[in-house]
Amino acid sequence: MFDSPSIVVGLDIGTSKICATVGELNDSGGLNIIGLGQAKSRGVRKGEIVDLALTKDDIRDAVVEAEQMADVEIRSVYLGVTGAHVTCFNNRGFHSIASHDREITEEDVQDVLKNARAINLPAENRTVHVIRQHFAVDGQEHISNPVGMHGARVEVDVHVVHGHFNRLQNPIAAVRALQLDVDEVVFTGLASSLALLTSEQKELGSIVIDIGSGTTEYVVYAKGIIKHTGVLAVGGDHISNDLAFGLKLPLGRAEQLKIDHGSALVEESAKGQVITISNDLGLPEKTINIEHLRRIMSARIEEIFQLIAAELDAAGVLDQVREGVFICGGGARIPQIQRAASMVFGMHAYIGKTNLMSGLKSALDQPEFAGAIGLARFGSFELKKRSEDRRPLLGIRSTLSQLLRPLTRG
Ligand SMILES: Nc1ncnc2c1ncn2[C@@H]1O[C@H](COP(=O)(O)OP(=O)(O)OP(=O)(O)O)[C@@H](O)[C@H]1O
Ligand SMILES: [Mg+2]
Repeated sequence: MFDSPSIVVGLDIGTSKICATVGELNDSGGLNIIGLGQAKSRGVRKGEIVDLALTKDDIRDAVVEAEQMADVEIRSVYLGVTGAHVTCFNNRGFHSIASHDREITEEDVQDVLKNARAINLPAENRTVHVIRQHFAVDGQEHISNPVGMHGARVEVDVHVVHGHFNRLQNPIAAVRALQLDVDEVVFTGLASSLALLTSEQKELGSIVIDIGSGTTEYVVYAKGIIKHTGVLAVGGDHISNDLAFGLKLPLGRAEQLKIDHGSALVEESAKGQVITISNDLGLPEKTINIEHLRRIMSARIEEIFQLIAAELDAAGVLDQVREGVFICGGGARIPQIQRAASMVFGMHAYIGKTNLMSGLKSALDQPEFAGAIGLARFGSFELKKRSEDRRPLLGIRSTLSQLLRPLTRG
């Protein structure tokens, strides 16, 4: 076993599975996924821990499996966080240039960013990320780096992701209880987008939607910049619940039917189609109408997409998306899901594929691992950044120190 500084580990504490990914930075700075461990998640609901003891055990199992596969000792992780309490807004910071020649320096940039980060959040909330979007100098917008330019006033737009402080502590506490360090806390939806999107797709404008068991996260990019992020506390579990209720079946049965016969659309071929399922308890067999099953599923899936589309429209970002919608998470396995998304969003939709990474083919091709792989990717950006300079790559800045302060104090 070895512990190399070029190793990064992502830890995604999901509602149905906990997943640890081990990435190794190659000489050219690319990320090679060399290990993946997963465990069934027993203590998480809607993306948030509800049983710390069970979750600790499950994290341990996932981490040990990843260690064995990668032959490394895991000491710290880039930790994914999510939940309905995670939300976003955009903020603008200002700074007047004091120097006589009015040349903007790196210090001025740090000052304007500091101003943009001075945000009035609800008392119980903390920032998770403050993501730099672009600068403006004396009213000239869309400047990517103002250092060396001349001006009297520099402004910066930032995208702020924040969440409930105590609820963000739970995954951190679970990890630290296992004698593991947290390198950074990362919004899982952001991580998925880092795994899937190329620079060109971010530039043209893309929406990433990660449909898990208990949550659906979404992130919007346009002109290479993160414009909007969000979480719905709705996912595949709710589809199974709808089926259990609508078809009068036990939940486990409904979940299996969803996987075996589900679809996001009701197609002609489903009309009149029925299947007979045997009853485990020795009760009479039951006939399931496939059209009815798919109608229930498609209604819930359409609702999820409509909620997201309405929010993005209200935020004024939907019009800026030119490339399309990229779907990941286990929900991406639902047949016809991209067509259902395409109909609601009125644009192309695709099953997201991890990009520009090498390593375990079995992991890279699975849509439910996008979040965990993206966490390792976030880590690889951080490692590169540290070895190159102190500027945050992509302008993404996690605020782990803020989140940890009370724990280290005590
Ligand atoms: N073939 C399939 N058809 C329909 N649904 C599927 C299929 N395969 C997986 N799913 C669903 O995907 C969900 C699991 O997805 P995923 O592993 O991304 O969740 P998670 O990351 O653990 O949860 P979350 O992100 O919500 O905390 C489950 O609801 C499961 O039923
Ligand atoms: Mg997930």
